[in-house]
Amino acid sequence: MAIVSSTVGQSESHYSSQRNRDIDARPFSEEVTSPREDGLRPKCLDEYIGQSSLKEVLGIAVQAAIGRGDALDHVLLYGPPGLGKTTMALVLAEELGVRCRITSAPALERPRDIVGLLVNLQPRDLLFIDEIHRLPRVAEELLYPAMEDKRLDLTIGKGSTSRMRSLDLVPFTLVGATTRAGSLSSPLRDRFGLSQRLEFYCLKDLKAIIKRTANLLNLVIDDDACLEIARRCRGTPRIANRLLKRVRDFATVRGGVDLINEFLVDEALNLHRVDSRGLDESDRCLLEYLMNCPGGGPVGLDTLAAALGEDSATLESVVEPFLLQIGFLQRTPRGRILTSAGRLHIEEKEAI
Ligand code: ADE
Repeated sequence: MAIVSSTVGQSESHYSSQRNRDIDARPFSEEVTSPREDGLRPKCLDEYIGQSSLKEVLGIAVQAAIGRGDALDHVLLYGPPGLGKTTMALVLAEELGVRCRITSAPALERPRDIVGLLVNLQPRDLLFIDEIHRLPRVAEELLYPAMEDKRLDLTIGKGSTSRMRSLDLVPFTLVGATTRAGSLSSPLRDRFGLSQRLEFYCLKDLKAIIKRTANLLNLVIDDDACLEIARRCRGTPRIANRLLKRVRDFATVRGGVDLINEFLVDEALNLHRVDSRGLDESDRCLLEYLMNCPGGGPVGLDTLAAALGEDSATLESVVEPFLLQIGFLQRTPRGRILTSAGRLHIEEKEAI
């Protein structure tokens, strides 16, 4: 591979021909993955239910960027999985009237992976990098000047003959998503102009999301059934929509069900071993493990992870946040502790 250009101007035609000649970057479509589309995602901010402060902050930033004719500032979205980070990136692109290119940090293994993405962006495009805390070091270092100065600093050649070349990039917006904001290096974190946490959804918003999805799937469902799914989806729209589909399967196979009510939801979700608070097998295992420890803990994260056969990072960023949120688990400097509410919940389940 040879990169012979120095700084490339931003005129589109010059840009395209130059980069195609000079850079061994694979075609864009190969680099970019698209989220599995089921037509259920909200398309614009008005359709996006919940996360009101996130929507307000981003809505203002979008309007301001459009007014200036500029790219939206870089955005970091963090929080537990399934709360709508990818959806929000797609919504932002729609609101801005630009393309959204989607990739995941572990896919950016070689320098040319990130280079290929960046040089193929069109002005003001949005580049979404999921799991940004897993960005390889080399990709991260290429991103610093790209985010700050719209510039790619490339090293050409090896050893004593190597040279640095800079390449101008078009203005773009990087949207990074992570479940582990604390694992981002501070130079990377500091380059995001907007850093926003997604929260678990309240029952009212979850009910509205379930109702909206049911309408899109042509399901007839009453309010109590929506509430029952909302109670059992761990504050997470992705889980709510998944449970709704399992309830739909149940209603279909049962036959003669023209209205989905709370009794049908209860039967369907019991079959899937999703309990009244939305806890699944791995949550219950964690709580039961603590319950069987003297005093309900404290137990260190690594010990807990080893006992449950999970890796610590998944336990910490995927399983624990909801248990902490509903007050079943407590984190202390000496380890995890089962709360009295957590103990009560497990004892009630065991009594059934
Ligand atoms: N489907 C999944 N998440 C949603 C949300 N936040 N608003 C509307 N529909 C959704």
